[in-house]
Amino acid sequence: MKKNKLPAQLLLGPVPAAMIGCGNGDINNIITLAWVGVVNSNPPLLSIAVRPGRYSHDLIRNSGEFTVNLPSVEQVAEADGCGTLSGRDTNKFERYGLTAVRGTLSCAPLIEECPVSMECLVEQTLSLGSHTLFIGRVVASYVAENVTDARGKIDFEKSGLLGFCSGNYLETVPLNLTLGYTLKKDD
Ligand SMILES: Cc1cc2nc3c(=O)[nH]c(=O)nc-3n(C[C@H](O)[C@H](O)[C@H](O)COP(=O)(O)O)c2cc1C
Repeated sequence: MKKNKLPAQLLLGPVPAAMIGCGNGDINNIITLAWVGVVNSNPPLLSIAVRPGRYSHDLIRNSGEFTVNLPSVEQVAEADGCGTLSGRDTNKFERYGLTAVRGTLSCAPLIEECPVSMECLVEQTLSLGSHTLFIGRVVASYVAENVTDARGKIDFEKSGLLGFCSGNYLETVPLNLTLGYTLKKDD
């Protein structure tokens, strides 16, 4: 395969387009983030990379909490808007008709309309340069019943979760080829 060598750049994608809930107990805010990743299974840790200039940055740093809410493709406009407007001058919950729900955390709200949500406590904060990496421990997870399969797992066909790649939104569609399928024997 012939390849072009490019200047060093981050070519990792698709990634989730996640709507992060944060707040201070009085104020609730949402920031859309694509730089979200799984980093450890036990304890369950994930990371979010946030520019220090974002209004949400200090809400997360000061409260030590955030929620990760995964929108479906039907919520692409809300995700885009929450990733364009700032909570400094807009109440994004009101503007997009979204519902802030209190879960187990004191400051960071869940977004009721998102089919998948996780509540996280900040375990580590790393200043990396352009972004701050918050490593969060997942303390509670929620999946809407209408996107859950018979085993209680996320049904990706039903959920139509929103992804992001090279500046474009996309739908996460399963191939229905399960892990290890190449080595599984037929009955
Ligand atoms: C799809 C998408 C992905 C984004 N990913 C990130 C990200 O990973 N990190 C970041 O700091 N900002 C990211 N942004 C930009 C912030 O969401 C945006 O600056 C937002 O308006 C900040 O809101 P706030 O000022 O209320 O915190 C993204 C925006 C969009 C639309």
